[in-house]
Amino acid sequence: MRALPVIKNAFLLVEGERILDFGKMEDAPTDIEQEIDATGKFVFPSWCDSHTHLVFAKSRESEFEDRINGLTYAEISAKGGGILNSAKKLGEITEDELLIHARARLYEIAKFGTGCVEIKSGYGLTVESELKILRVIKRLKAESRLGIKATFLGAHSYPMEFRENKRGYIDLVINEMLPRVAEENLADYIDAFCEKGFFSPADTEEIIQAGKKYGLKAKIHTNQFNCMGGIQMSVANNAVSVDHLEVLNDAEMECLLDSDTMPTLLPSAPFFLNDHYPPARKMIDKGLPVALASDYNPGTTPSGKIPFVLSLACIKMKMTPQEAINAATINGAYAMEMNHDFGSIEKGKYASFFITKNIPSVAYLPYAFGSDLIETIVLKGEVFDK
Ligand code: NIG
Ligand code: FE
Repeated sequence: MRALPVIKNAFLLVEGERILDFGKMEDAPTDIEQEIDATGKFVFPSWCDSHTHLVFAKSRESEFEDRINGLTYAEISAKGGGILNSAKKLGEITEDELLIHARARLYEIAKFGTGCVEIKSGYGLTVESELKILRVIKRLKAESRLGIKATFLGAHSYPMEFRENKRGYIDLVINEMLPRVAEENLADYIDAFCEKGFFSPADTEEIIQAGKKYGLKAKIHTNQFNCMGGIQMSVANNAVSVDHLEVLNDAEMECLLDSDTMPTLLPSAPFFLNDHYPPARKMIDKGLPVALASDYNPGTTPSGKIPFVLSLACIKMKMTPQEAINAATINGAYAMEMNHDFGSIEKGKYASFFITKNIPSVAYLPYAFGSDLIETIVLKGEVFDK
């Protein structure tokens, strides 16, 4: 993770949507149609944000104020705030309205340098509302120049009417929602919030195995607040990624070492909740890869700004700038199985990259945490109008 290959004084040749070639400037072709001069600048592959919930109806800044006034995230959820608050608001708007909000957020993250993103459902919690979110993601996939993967997260929380009947809700997810999601081909992955008070490792395993029958691989929310076996269970079920990991013990790290499951860290969430950060340094020193993602959502991370995630990774988790950049590009692409198309500057991959303003070094990017250092954005071969 520490090695970030850089070519000084280089060219990058694009044809159509793809990278045709790159290398040292003296080897650059001369017969080109359109040229962008990047003298004094850096060219980065677009960020690959492998964990977001950016299809939501409304912001939740009143809970932000509640927390400032002393309530915890768990207390806010228990009184019907949190995910249920978002689900209520989502139930009140149409698919077209939801698309308008989500499209604006996609545009916003593209301006921050993201070129490939995973988006989850999970703010519906009814058959129709979950489908509504996933249909919006499908429409975004069709219209956007960003790479997009969709994840079905029906098991995000229990609606109020199922608080005393958790079995009933899991059955609804598996027997009612999942077949409809599969029938309309709305999801690439399945997720569940494996956490105390939400879905146990056994519940989550049942949901993963139900998803597998429809060809959906797992990406799992686990170890945000408690270690309870979610990692071991996810690895045993060949999950593509396990996400959050604010708490992670040695046995769980060992288990991940023997796996193809990508540990995915979301440091904006503990930043916003004023909680502690995942043990990234220890993980990497033990030989694990990590991916960094935003977790863009209205409750715990109202931000999809990957450059800020990189700064948090360096400042709060002691990752080097090079490690952080690898984590938010190629490892993020791997965590949504988009590594053949995104995540690095390689021949044949999509020409999705950004050119910085004049900056002195790679490390300047996470160092200057408040600056917008992106000057030009290219998405699948086309200049994106900021
Ligand atoms: O990834 N942890 C669960 N879900 C989201 C946030 C949920 C919310 O409060 O809206 C997360 O942090
Ligand atoms: Fe999340």
